[in-house]
Amino acid sequence: MKRIMVIGAVGQIGSELTMELRNIYGNDNVMAVGRKTPPSDELKNSGPFAFSNILNYEEMKKLIADFGTDTIYLMAAILSATGEKNPMLAYRVNNDGLMNVLEASRELKLEKVLIPSSIAAFGPETPRDNTPNDTILKPKTMYGISKVHGELLCDYYFYKYGLDVRGLRYPGIISYKTPPGGGTTDYTVEMYRAAVEGKPYTCFVKESTVLPMMYMPDALKSIIDLANADIKNLKHHSDFNVTAMSFSAGELADSIRKYIPGFKVTYEPDFRQKIADSWPMSLDDTVAREEWGWSPDYDLDMMTKDMIENLPSVL
Ligand code: SER
Repeated sequence: MKRIMVIGAVGQIGSELTMELRNIYGNDNVMAVGRKTPPSDELKNSGPFAFSNILNYEEMKKLIADFGTDTIYLMAAILSATGEKNPMLAYRVNNDGLMNVLEASRELKLEKVLIPSSIAAFGPETPRDNTPNDTILKPKTMYGISKVHGELLCDYYFYKYGLDVRGLRYPGIISYKTPPGGGTTDYTVEMYRAAVEGKPYTCFVKESTVLPMMYMPDALKSIIDLANADIKNLKHHSDFNVTAMSFSAGELADSIRKYIPGFKVTYEPDFRQKIADSWPMSLDDTVAREEWGWSPDYDLDMMTKDMIENLPSVL
């Protein structure tokens, strides 16, 4: 029987991933672990929930052992923009936190560990169009540096200890239930929220800024599919490019205007512009398609329709 722990379960992806895994494996078999109070009672009341901090090794290890955990999804991270404001915090949470989870997983002989990496692993020297899976990794943010370190560390645990660690490089993730926090790609969700609230939006990157993106149902599908992939087919482990779409901030505004015609956006780039400019504009995810059958369902217009239909229920 599966006993799954989602660490970082209160964040944008972790909160929805927990509910999806509870639907698949049963509420009692999926423990949510977070540092903050969950935004909705659903997460806390539908299954086991514990407060803990990945920097507290002994507490975390005991939680993992006591639950009889066999699989961990590690979703806790300090993202790019918050990381640039507080690099030491990003360093500790993203590197030491990961190390703690990998060590506990090795000691307790877990079956599987899932850890997302990010487009932040790339840097300005990386080819920005259709960025290959295996390419130059010289990020300039602390978040990106911790993601490259994480990919290497995860592979180290796989090859040295045989711990089955898997990970994928998420693009910007867009969703309506839980807002993202501290990322460079957050302008996308902020733009949808402003539009649905009938407010104008001041975007913190230029209108022409293009980044790879993915809608939440595809983000959940990708990590769960990777978890269930046959290990015999995997040549990569912790560093799969995955993507669904690429668009500029201006194209996103245009897509929203198909539903909300009067929506006004102005552009006032801040420090996050430089981060966005150092990341790929589009990703080549052939390796994920070939090794575990990755394929997204949502494009920009399908996502916009779904966001605009569903956001009013949470605002
Ligand atoms: N969404 C993240 C960020 O913007 C990228 O992984 O930091």
